[in-house]
Formats: sequence, structure tokens, C-alpha cells
Amino acid sequence: KRVAVLISGRGSNMSALIEAAKAPDYPAEIVGVLSNKAAAGGLAVAQAEGIATASLAQSRFPSREMFEDTMTQVLESWEAEIVCLAGFMRILGEDFVNHWAGRMINIHPSLLPAYRGLDTHARALADGATVHGCSVHFVTPGLDEGPVILQAQVPVLAGDTPETLSARVLVEEHRIYPQALAMLCRGEVSLLV
Ligand code: GRF
Repeated sequence: KRVAVLISGRGSNMSALIEAAKAPDYPAEIVGVLSNKAAAGGLAVAQAEGIATASLAQSRFPSREMFEDTMTQVLESWEAEIVCLAGFMRILGEDFVNHWAGRMINIHPSLLPAYRGLDTHARALADGATVHGCSVHFVTPGLDEGPVILQAQVPVLAGDTPETLSARVLVEEHRIYPQALAMLCRGEVSLLV
């Protein structure tokens, strides 16, 4: 399957997907990386891998709908069949989400449904959670509400800070995101609408 990745920053999950896709039996090819930030570090990484890249600033568009329609045009110019959100820090509108329904997944740094939204590691620590982790889920119009495909747990350790905890979770993100994408590409999981 032809897969596009949407990023806003360093793109370490994007890199994990690119590396996984190098295996000859991996069922996806990363055909493009789109960022809403021109300065996203992940863009240079993708370019160095010979992958098509684009950046679109939402502020340059008169409306969110026009920004998102242009994103879909870019993704379709790459003939992308599946979209992976990987640290894409914009909430997506209903039209865009519905256009890609069942074909768009996200990595979120919590054990959903716990800690939707931002600052998940600090919130888990503030609650005294003993277990934390990450989830790959289908993207649906409600923020971080779509059905979960895979999760991984990590322990919360004494003395953890949001930084140490996020580093432990990130290792698991890089492991389960390629697994979940492969499951979707192989038709082992689908979104029932
Ligand atoms: C990851 O923790 C991801 O779960 C979250 O944003 C972070 C992005 O990191 N949504 P990276 O750009 O993939 O390195």
C-alpha cells in the first residue's frame, strides 16, 4: 500500500515507519511526507531518504477547509492510499477525517481512552499512574476517540519526569506504529462505519 505520513516536528515515528518499510516483506511503501510546519526536522530526514515532501502552512489559507482540501490534493497527487499521523499537531476537520475514514491512523502517547489530547505524560504523573503507554488508533472526528488497533504499556518509575517517561513511551511508539500500519495494510484490521 502507498502510505503518506503527516508530521509537524522531529518525525521520529515517521522515521520508524520509513525504516520498517525497507524490509522486503513489509506491506507499505512511504510515498510522501507532508508537514504543516516548514521547519519540521522530519522533512529533511524524509528528503534524505528520497521521499517526496511538502509543507503547507494553515495560516496561508483562508479557511481550515481550504487548507485540508489542499492537503488531500497533495496526498492524492502521491496516490496515497493510507495516511499516518505522526506528531501532526493540528486538529483535523470532519470533512478531511471522513474523506480518509478507515484509511487514516494516529499514534497517541497514552493508553487510550486515558489522557486524550496534550501533555499526556505530565498528566499521568500528576495522577500517580503506575502504568502508562501509547496507542495506535483509527482517526475519527472526535479527538483521539477512534478505535484502538494496538497499545503498548510501560511502567511509571519512581523519580520519572515527563521527559524520562516520554522517552520510555517513545521506544514503544516506534515499535507498535509500524506493526499497526502493517496490520491495516494486510487487511487484518478495519474501521466499521
Ligand atoms: C509522539 O510522542 C507522538 O505520540 C505524539 O507526538 C510525538 C511526536 O514525536 N503525538 P515524533 O515527531 O514522531 O518524534
